[in-house]
Amino acid sequence: MTNPIEPASIPLVPGAPLIPPFGIGAWQWGDRTIWDYGKGLFSDEDLHAAFDAALDAGVNFFDTAEVYGEGRSETLLGQFRAARPTPPVVIASKFSPLPTRLRKTALFSALKASLERLQLDCLDLYQIHFPPPAFGDDRWLEALAEAHQQGLIRGIGISNYSEADTRRVHARLAALGLPLLSNQVEYHLLNRKAEREGLLKLCEELGVRTIAYSPLAQGLLTGKYTPENPPPGLRGRSVSAARLAALPDFTRTVQIIGEARGGKTPAQVALNWVICKEAIPIPGVKNASQTIANLGALGWRLTPEQVTTLDEAAQALPQ
Ligand SMILES: NC(=O)c1ccc[n+]([C@@H]2O[C@H](COP(=O)([O-])OP(=O)(O)OC[C@H]3O[C@@H](n4cnc5c(N)ncnc54)[C@H](OP(=O)(O)O)[C@@H]3O)[C@@H](O)[C@H]2O)c1
Repeated sequence: MTNPIEPASIPLVPGAPLIPPFGIGAWQWGDRTIWDYGKGLFSDEDLHAAFDAALDAGVNFFDTAEVYGEGRSETLLGQFRAARPTPPVVIASKFSPLPTRLRKTALFSALKASLERLQLDCLDLYQIHFPPPAFGDDRWLEALAEAHQQGLIRGIGISNYSEADTRRVHARLAALGLPLLSNQVEYHLLNRKAEREGLLKLCEELGVRTIAYSPLAQGLLTGKYTPENPPPGLRGRSVSAARLAALPDFTRTVQIIGEARGGKTPAQVALNWVICKEAIPIPGVKNASQTIANLGALGWRLTPEQVTTLDEAAQALPQ
């Protein structure tokens, strides 16, 4: 298969790692609470095939976190990578700044445990998973700078940070001589808060990449969930009845655009919309067929008119 990835448009700082323009989310790889791992719906073999399918197509960026499946996601990713040492992969993981973690040493312990599970000496991108609920993040930023100095991480990112906090962290890291590479936030057609509040624009100005998590709105944007067939479990309970009721009409609009683009699916259109907004989508997958289907979002672009049609249709949806 040919490589479908568009050339990266990342303003690279010398020595900083490149964050590819499309990635695969690995929250599902071990998570029993939301994603039903271990319940017979998808297996480790399915996940291994999902990993291989991405690499076969030239997509080599994977996003995980120490908390996903209580470390299982990192362990699986480490095993899959070790079984296929080439091509090189780019792995992003996350540190949870829990209130029980008080000292800088806590970050080093967490990072070393992640590296061990991932079977790596150095992590490409280490992200603070969310703004610390207490005591600020200065000590974590200093610890990240030290980890970088020691060669344990190549790049630093944050996640779920607001505009003001992103600006502050960017300046703090700059004072430590390091670039802030990315802010990973929820961003998709059904949640445009990052766009509305100016976070996307700020990140672009600062040269910080926006990584869009839940780019398929946890499956809602694939078109397979309806009021009669809501997403299972907690996912279904977090969507309002009004929004679910309006979803089929919205999906129809997405389908019409996909048909005009040579038969693209709603998921492919939704992921392409994220790319058109200059963010990096990292759809979560459970098997190779979901991976391959999502890769159909690459190698083409919605027209500006199609993006506007989608923006307006999404705007009209109830919360
Ligand atoms: N930083 C953070 O706080 C944070 C938070 C959330 C997520 N994330 C990251 O972002 C990644 C993606 O977000 P997400 O997993 O929440 O949601 P998502 O990518 O919007 O949705 C993923 C789910 O959609 C369904 N799906 C995916 N591709 C499909 C396809 N082609 N056809 C049909 N169904 C498909 C699958 O679930 P079903 O088959 O069960 O429907 C899959 O598990 C995560 O894996 C994680 O790495 C980060």
